[in-house]
Parts: sequence; structure tokens; C-alpha cells
Amino acid sequence: MNKKVTVVGAGNVGATTAQRLAEKELCDVVLVDIVEGIPQGKSLDLMEAAPIEKHDAKLTGCNTYEATADSDIVIITAGIPRKPGMSRDDLISTNAGIIKNVTREIVKYAPNSILIIVSNPLDAMCHVALSASGFPKNRVIGMAGVLDSARFRAFIAMELNVSVENTHAFVLGGHGDTMVPLPRYSTVAGIPITELMSKDRIDALVERTANGGAEIVSLLKTGSAYYAPASAAVEMAEAILKDKKKILPCAAYLQGEYGIQDLFIGVPVKLGKNGIEQVIEIKLTNDEKAALEKSAAAVEGLKATLAKLA
Ligand code: NAI
Ligand code: 2OP
Repeated sequence: MNKKVTVVGAGNVGATTAQRLAEKELCDVVLVDIVEGIPQGKSLDLMEAAPIEKHDAKLTGCNTYEATADSDIVIITAGIPRKPGMSRDDLISTNAGIIKNVTREIVKYAPNSILIIVSNPLDAMCHVALSASGFPKNRVIGMAGVLDSARFRAFIAMELNVSVENTHAFVLGGHGDTMVPLPRYSTVAGIPITELMSKDRIDALVERTANGGAEIVSLLKTGSAYYAPASAAVEMAEAILKDKKKILPCAAYLQGEYGIQDLFIGVPVKLGKNGIEQVIEIKLTNDEKAALEKSAAAVEGLKATLAKLA
């Protein structure tokens, strides 16, 4: 039997995620949205592309959750995206309600699934999903670090005129202005970028990475990024579906790791068939630790806002 992945939210990120999952032939895909016709239409359109794209993944679109039964993974992209002038945090009250309702439906039909949360503000939405699902912490994972690191990698490759495949990068912390790109752990063919670029250039790329989401919003004007976010969610899903034990930066619920308690924040984790199988603790300098603590404080602020909304 094929693996099954449900994607909730058939908008820009959700539909692109469904397309990438199917075209990589990783699983069958159930696409759910509240708007009638949209998930059905997009699924059918993708099925009609299958003979040309050469895959046999089945895509089903629906407005209710019966078809999501026994999904291995559920990727939640439902909600509103930001528009120019809005921060990710401005979305919190609308999206918290949506994530709570969606998660409750998922628990009814796919109680053993692994949740990959995409909706913003990301770290706060992970808290909502963890609490609404009652799932163990290894089965609730936030997508942000893979995207932020991919942006950093793309900028490094552009700067040095090298293949993106030679680049590796780590971005930790919350998915917001306080995210923590780590140049010391970012490499080109194994060489730390601190040996390949001036501090000024690295600082400029770090800043561009931290503002990567806003840069796309200001260009698109009607919504936020979706090609790279979908690629990032699919990389996480693939690691889980194939039990790859791949180390990727993801939002994980920390209980003491990095000195952080009861908080979702981006850290390197090992992804396999059980979801998060290990949180990898890397050594940080005092400055890096301080930046991670500042980022954690920002996520704590969002958690406090959530508590007021409840
Ligand atoms: P979009 O507006 O294109 O799609 C959102 C979809 O969710 C819409 O089709 C809407 O009908 C649907 N939806 C709303 N309420 C729903 C519900 N209760 N049940 C099912 N579906 C529902 O937005 P886009 O661009 O796809 O972004 C989705 C979310 O992902 C946003 O919150 C955005 O900020 C976030 N995002 C997060 C990223 C990350 O790095 N974590 C990256 C990119 C986007
Ligand atoms: C991004 O970083 C909006 O969070 C989304 O593009």
C-alpha cells in the first residue's frame, strides 16, 4: 500500500507541496481545504498532469476529513498568509483558531500521523497543534529551519558563484526576525564560509536570510513565498517516509535541550519514521547562545499571546 500524506490548505504552499509529493512519487496525497471545489480541482488537475510527469501517485481533493484516514503524515498549511506591512505574528489569532480545528479533525481520522506544521506564526502554531492533538512531541514538527537554511544556502551560492549542492547552512531559533543563522556551521564543500567571505558580506547574507520571507512578500504583494516553503516541507516528509535519519533544522518542542524549557524552537533534529528521533545539541559560542535566547524570548511572547487568546 502506498504511503498517504494529507496536506491541509490547498492554497499556494499546500498545492505546491501536493504537486512536489506526487511528482517525486513519495506517496498518495489527500488535499483538504474549506473552499469547495479548490482541493478537488487542484487534485484533478495534478492527476491529469501525471501521465506527462510520469508518476502514479493518487491525489484526492476534499472539504471534509474522511479521506485523510490513516495518513502517515499531515502537513498543515491552512490559514492566512501575510501581506505587505504585516508580520508573521499578526496572523496569530486567525490562524490559531484554524490550526486548532484542523488538528482536532486530524486526530479523529489519523491518530497515528506525524504533523508537519507550516502555518504562521510557525512556532506558536506548533504549540497549538501539540496541545490540540495531544500527540507526543516527536510527532509535532514545525517547518521553518529547512526553508531559512535553504535561503541562506541560495544566497551563499549566488555570492560565491558555486553550486548550491556544495552549500550547507544552519539557521536556528524561531521563524521570525530573531532567527539565528550560524555562519560557523555553514560551509561550501566542507569549508566554513567564515574562511571564504569577509565578515561584512557574511553579515549582509545573514540579514538577507532573516528578511527572506519579507523580501518575497514585498515582491509578490498579494501573499508570501510558496515554492521554497513547499520544497522544505517535502524534504521533511521524505526524510520521515523513507526513514532516512536525516538531520535537518526543524521547530521541535524542547524540554531542557539548549537550556530551553517547554518551547518550540528551531534546532537540528534527526528525522526518521518516528518523526523527531533526536534533538542534536551543537556547541554554541556565547554570542550564538545569546541570539538563541533572544529568539526563544520572542517565541515565549507568542506563547503568552496564545494563552490570552485561549
Ligand atoms: P494561501 O492563502 O495561498 O492558502 C491557505 C489556504 O488555507 C487557503 O486555500 C484557505 O482556503 C485554506 N484554509 C483556511 N482555513 C482553512 C481551514 N479551516 N481548513 C482548511 N483549509 C483552510 O496561503 P499560503 O501562501 O499557502 O500560506 C499558508 C500558511 O503558511 C500561511 O499561514 C503562511 O504564513 C504560512 N507559511 C509558512 C512558512 C514557514 O516557513 N513556516 C512559509 C510559507 C508560508
Ligand atoms: C516565509 O518565510 C512567510 O514564513 C513565510 O516566507
